[in-house]
Amino acid sequence: MSLEGKEILVTGCAGFIGAALVIRLLNSNANVTGIDNINSYYSKKLKTARLEEIKEKTKQSKGKWNYFKVSLENKESFKKIYLNHNFDIVIHLAAQAGVRYSLINPDSYINSNLVGFGNVLEMCREKSIKNFIFASSSSVYGNDKRLPFSENLNVDHPISLYAATKKSNELLAHSYSHLYKIPTTGLRFFTVYGPWGRPDMAPMIFIKSILERKKIKIFNHGNMRRDFTYIDDVVEGIYRCCFKAAFCEENRSDFFSTAPYRIFNIGNGKPLKLMDFIRILETNLGLDSEKEYLGMQKGDVVETWADLEKIKDWIDYKPSTSIEEGLFNLVSWYKKFYLV
Ligand SMILES: NC(=O)c1ccc[n+]([C@@H]2O[C@H](COP(=O)([O-])OP(=O)(O)OC[C@H]3O[C@@H](n4cnc5c(N)ncnc54)[C@H](O)[C@@H]3O)[C@@H](O)[C@H]2O)c1
Repeated sequence: MSLEGKEILVTGCAGFIGAALVIRLLNSNANVTGIDNINSYYSKKLKTARLEEIKEKTKQSKGKWNYFKVSLENKESFKKIYLNHNFDIVIHLAAQAGVRYSLINPDSYINSNLVGFGNVLEMCREKSIKNFIFASSSSVYGNDKRLPFSENLNVDHPISLYAATKKSNELLAHSYSHLYKIPTTGLRFFTVYGPWGRPDMAPMIFIKSILERKKIKIFNHGNMRRDFTYIDDVVEGIYRCCFKAAFCEENRSDFFSTAPYRIFNIGNGKPLKLMDFIRILETNLGLDSEKEYLGMQKGDVVETWADLEKIKDWIDYKPSTSIEEGLFNLVSWYKKFYLV
């Protein structure tokens, strides 16, 4: 399968998932346009280094790479870019991510995830985009106890502003898909980890603290489980969706929509206890951690577990990276990148 000659827009291209995806798309010879405002939520240096890595890893590509430093909520600047292009596929990953930060800086979520998202939808309408893929999140499931999380579950009870914006994205996208017949696929990612990961997420926070011989904070006294998903598996899932735009499916027993619109989980399908995750990390680092046990954090969920039946049926998605292999790769990258 190749995407040679396809014009693809990736928003959030300097982000963790975005940069890895751009490398994959360019190496499939697609012409890729990237947008990212390099916001200061976490290290700008890391984001800039990811942009350098894109160039480094795609030297053999026949595809063209174009990057624009623009905020999606800046409608005029964003419009100038998309009016000059005819994108076959739009992959919208840019967002203010993170559950905990949404308690501190709600404006950032409203601006990026709602105003920015609205502008992306407007582009899809104006340019009649034929395959729109956007990032949602497992956080929309909140504290639902019906595990594994299936896309059929009602997700009307977000427990953080971040989750509420992601659920809103799904609703807004559905209305555009229905009204303007925009083939739309929303992907609910489950705790993505791996090389070039986000420094605000637990895997990277733990590695940093353990290497610096600092205590690691363990919330809910360690009583948590996460469906950790390796970056390459996530990228593979998005990549496969490039070849299959959503289409109208009437008379489905599990989906009451006549729009060309689908929502899928992208996870690993094997939840892991937080304490097991830390143990594997310690083995990889060759160090034991000092632990500080704390209560539950506001907005956080106890457990996530992706039901992958639907995405498996749709694009034959099968995550293939074990947690041991994934953490080995993450630790190796971390030591090299941060010269530890
Ligand atoms: N990483 C995960 O575990 C995870 C889990 C669930 C969902 N997601 C979603 O997947 C997407 C990608 O996540 P990530 O982990 O790569 O996050 P990330 O923060 O590394 O990447 C997002 C990028 O978008 C950019 N950005 C943010 N707001 C912008 C705006 N208004 N205009 C232009 N650029 C903007 C940021 O500078 C950043 O580089 C996000 O939508 C996130 O909510 C991620």
